[in-house]
Amino acid sequence: TEKRIEPIPSEEFLVIAHRGASAYAPEHTLLAYEIAQQAEATYIEIDLQMTEDGVLVAMHDEKVDRTTDGTGFVKEYTLKELKLLNAGEWFNNEYPGLANEEFEDVSIPTLEEIFIHFGSEVNYYIEMKSPGIYDEMEEKLIALLKQYNLIYVDKGLPKVIIESFNEDSLVKIHQLEPRLPLIKLFSFKEEAALSVQDYNRLNTYASGIGVNISSVDKHFIREVQQNGLQIHLYSVNDETELKKTLNLKANGVFTNIPNIAVELLKQQ
Ligand code: G3P
Ligand code: CA
Repeated sequence: TEKRIEPIPSEEFLVIAHRGASAYAPEHTLLAYEIAQQAEATYIEIDLQMTEDGVLVAMHDEKVDRTTDGTGFVKEYTLKELKLLNAGEWFNNEYPGLANEEFEDVSIPTLEEIFIHFGSEVNYYIEMKSPGIYDEMEEKLIALLKQYNLIYVDKGLPKVIIESFNEDSLVKIHQLEPRLPLIKLFSFKEEAALSVQDYNRLNTYASGIGVNISSVDKHFIREVQQNGLQIHLYSVNDETELKKTLNLKANGVFTNIPNIAVELLKQQ
């Protein structure tokens, strides 16, 4: 039987705070998400990994090395062990000009902690980062979204959008919970291109695609939209580039500087 694809209304251009407002605070910390919320980003983006004991946590990399004082794979840490890591000090070391004492004692947030902290006050754009290396990540995510009553449309926008480079994971989510709008991510090496078969397959489960900005032009964006899909562009982290991006008439942008994107949109 045909399952309905959840549409994402296209009236509003989505400002997706990439890893939170990650230009200003360590990525994937509550502080980075709070700055995104204050900036009135449409969505906060959360990359997911999973601990050894099966807890979903916000982290971009499979390993903790880059963004904490620890080493090794997230999946080899229990939540208790992971919580001992410092998730903000690296930012102060990397960006001394932006260093802030507040960043010195932040830990990796679990997805549940994020839901408890923000509730329905923000919209969530969640990436299944490495679903291939974890068991039942999709089931766990959907259970948590249901527990916190986050699967609904609020002021014309879905409270939660799910994204992934992994098509199998998205198809599984669509089968388990067709009310969740899904974005299939692509990273095109050269010029973005999709075939009729690609569009047909995408239209069986996805509401849209997320594409690296370097690969697209206005023509491709229009083609995607004419094929019934939204297109969100990643990642644009500079004001001049954001201005150019808005002219492309895509449906949204991932940005580390959501405050600037929101201001530019207000001026339009
Ligand atoms: O999710 C879109 C974009 O965030 C993909 O890049 O590596 O930052 O997750 P990445
Ligand atoms: Ca991401």
